Amino acid sequence: MIYLNFNQKIVAANWKMNKDIPESVLFAKNLKKHMKNEFSANVIIFPSFVSIYPIAQEFDKTGVKIGAQNCSYESSGAFTGEVSMDMLKSAGAEFVLAGHSERRNLFFESNEVINKKVLKILQSGLKVIVCVGESLEERESGITKNVILEQLSAALSGVKSSDIKNISVAYEPMWAIGTGKVVSSADACCVANLIKNFTKKEFKTGIPVLYGGSVKSSNAEDFLSMPEIDGVLVGGAALDETEFLKIINIAERFSK
Ligand code: PGA
Repeated sequence: MIYLNFNQKIVAANWKMNKDIPESVLFAKNLKKHMKNEFSANVIIFPSFVSIYPIAQEFDKTGVKIGAQNCSYESSGAFTGEVSMDMLKSAGAEFVLAGHSERRNLFFESNEVINKKVLKILQSGLKVIVCVGESLEERESGITKNVILEQLSAALSGVKSSDIKNISVAYEPMWAIGTGKVVSSADACCVANLIKNFTKKEFKTGIPVLYGGSVKSSNAEDFLSMPEIDGVLVGGAALDETEFLKIINIAERFSK
C-alpha cells in the first residue's frame, strides 16, 4: 500500500468532537464537488469514530484518506467504551492520531499510554501521527526542546526501524491550539528539524513533520512554504469546507 507521496504536503483535518454523521457526509460530498482529479496534496480527515465508516465510503477512490482521533491499545474484550484497531480498520481508517494534547491534558494520557497506542497502531499496519507540543509555561521557561524530545522518545520507544515509514509527527504547541495564536514559522522549523534529527539519529531516517495550532487559510502559507514543514494539522479551520479547501489549495502550490 502506498503510504504518502512525500513530494506532496499533508493537510490533516482534526474535527475533534464536532459534526454528526449527516454533517460529516455533507462535508465530504461538498469537498468532492471541488475535486476534478485527486488533490495534489495528501489530505487526511479525522472525524469522530461514528463518522469514519460513512465518510470513508464517500471518499472511496478519491485519494482522500480517513483517520481516527484515538484508539485502544488493547485488541478486544472487556474494555467498555473502547474502540480497537481492527474495528477502525474495518471502518476504513488508515491513520490514527496519538498523543494529542487534549488526550494528554483532558483524559490524562501519559507518555506510557501514548507509547502503547503507537505500538499497537503500527502493529496493526496503520499509520500514526504522533502529536507533541509544549505548554506556555514550558515555552516561557525555555525547555521546549527538552519537552519535545522527552515526548517523542517516550512515544517512539520500542518502535522497529521498519515501521518508521508509517509515522509522522505533528508539532502542536499547546498554547497555540484553538487560541488564534501561532508559533513563528522559524520556531516551527526549528522544532521540525529537532524532530527529524532525532529520528535520523535513532532510526537512520527523517520523518514528515506537520505543524498544528490555529492554522487557517490566512496563515497556512507561512508554514506550508517551509521545506522543513511537511504539512499542517488543522482543527477549527477544517470544519468549514471552503476554508479547508483554501488550505488544501495552498498545500497543492507547495507540492511537487
Ligand atoms: P486548532 O486545533 O487548529 O483549532 O488550533 C489544532 C489541533 O488541535 O489539532
